[in-house]
Amino acid sequence: MNMKTTPIPSEVVNEVIDAFGIHPAGKATIRELVKIVNDIEGITGEEYIRMEMGVPGLDPTFVGIEAEMIALRQGVASKYPNIEGIAPLKKEAARFVKMFMDVDVEPMHCIPTVGSMMGGMASFMVVNRSDKDRTGTLFLDPGFPVQKQQCLVLGHEFGSFDLYDYRGGKLRQKMEEEIEKGHYSSILYSNPNNPSWICLNEEELKIIGEISMKHDITVIEDLAYFGMDFRKDLSKPGVAPFQASVARYTENYILLISSSKAFSYAGQRIGMMIIAPGLYDRKYPDLKRYYSSEKFGHAMIYGALYALSAGASHTAQYALAAIFKAVNDGTYNYISEVREYGKKATIMKAMFQKYGFRIVYDMDLDEPIADGFYFTLSYPGFDGSQLVEKLLYYGISAISLEITGSSRTEGLRACVSQVRRDQFPVLEERLRRFSENHSIPK
Ligand SMILES: Cc1ncc(COP(=O)(O)O)c(C=O)c1O
Repeated sequence: MNMKTTPIPSEVVNEVIDAFGIHPAGKATIRELVKIVNDIEGITGEEYIRMEMGVPGLDPTFVGIEAEMIALRQGVASKYPNIEGIAPLKKEAARFVKMFMDVDVEPMHCIPTVGSMMGGMASFMVVNRSDKDRTGTLFLDPGFPVQKQQCLVLGHEFGSFDLYDYRGGKLRQKMEEEIEKGHYSSILYSNPNNPSWICLNEEELKIIGEISMKHDITVIEDLAYFGMDFRKDLSKPGVAPFQASVARYTENYILLISSSKAFSYAGQRIGMMIIAPGLYDRKYPDLKRYYSSEKFGHAMIYGALYALSAGASHTAQYALAAIFKAVNDGTYNYISEVREYGKKATIMKAMFQKYGFRIVYDMDLDEPIADGFYFTLSYPGFDGSQLVEKLLYYGISAISLEITGSSRTEGLRACVSQVRRDQFPVLEERLRRFSENHSIPK
């Protein structure tokens, strides 16, 4: 047998990549890679181990579907929802923040957005315009690439550094240095972190909070993977431990809570923006350049969110209200479902390591990195974007860490959600062939 045959015919992979025109294919964005893999699957009929995109791999939360169908039958589809959100959703969202984060906010501070994607966009549109002498965001990377795209299309400046190199107490000095250079209005990070799955601890969140107060910078805390640090049991309403948050350490924050991963509700594009009470009421005269009011909360709702979409889908708001109510009441434990991602990650990481791959972001301070929605990989002798392309010939798709702002350019991000357990034997066989064809340099 020819040692270099690959599970997916190389002529087809070459042809699709050439037609796309991005070389190496690992330089492509997430959605571009989705297209490349769809095209190869379409031609060959071979199913990929799809790890490129963070799509939930579980059924949507049934509580949401039921509530949404009832609302639809009651005719809400013909009515514009209030931009600030329907009352039951606002109430349950504030309760959720109390129950699962131990943070106090009022319903008025909880506003639905069309996914956290829109929450981020609207946050940039208001926060980064609140002071005429500052504009832009400091990203604590690695991160979700499209958030930088949002800054780009808005014409906002941004900067970033790789958090992994500045964990614990080292974070303060590095942030101070960056802020000195950057004149930023906001700081953004995700926790747990997409893609590395590091989880910022209380000491680090306290540092970020203190810096936010000292320099008057708004922290945009992206909780797209809410409750998914599976090392702790964050599933009990009103009982510690709680989802870690900067909200305990600053009065100047926006929390983005997505329904996409925690409740497998990505398709309905619904999330919540929680604005710190002090920030909501604050007046920024420079906002008047863009909005009718200098009040932050008002500018957010009747300026940014109005301009973007005039609110979030009416039925999806009913869905999220019902989901929050069920988890707040303790009748539905969402974590018991999403825990499956962590279990699959344990198996998949071990499989990759068996065939010579390494975990790139392997430590979370002094503990091994937790098993969750994503993990990061490298293979000796390749940089990340080459490795992404190479793996396409083996029926495995992932994205390069380079596009996430990571300093670990040798790495790629693997997402476990779409990989089914019944595909594990195929994954193992493909990895075995990959390692056979790519001996590790001594
Ligand atoms: C860090 C991060 N933020 C935001 C989002 C988008 O969330 P939503 O689907 O609620 O727009 C994602 C989705 O992958 C994400 O990983």
